Amino acid sequence: PFTAVWAPTGLRVEVPAHLSLLDALRRGGVPVESSCEAGVCGTCRLAVLDGEAEHDSVLACVSRAASPQIVVGP
Ligand code: FES
Repeated sequence: PFTAVWAPTGLRVEVPAHLSLLDALRRGGVPVESSCEAGVCGTCRLAVLDGEAEHDSVLACVSRAASPQIVVGP
């Protein structure tokens, strides 16, 4: 599990192991667009503004943080 912060609003959501970052953000009311939901199309790509992920951006449908908290934005 990790915490994600949606940079535009400062909203914090917990991302438990059984939820994707995409689903956790959506449950918090953030309308992240998606298409394949399998890590292929790139529609759900978000910038990583702080914290650790494997790259400077994440695919919200499949990527997870490598630190306890990441800050993401459009
Ligand atoms: Fe296609 Fe995430 S929705 S990569």
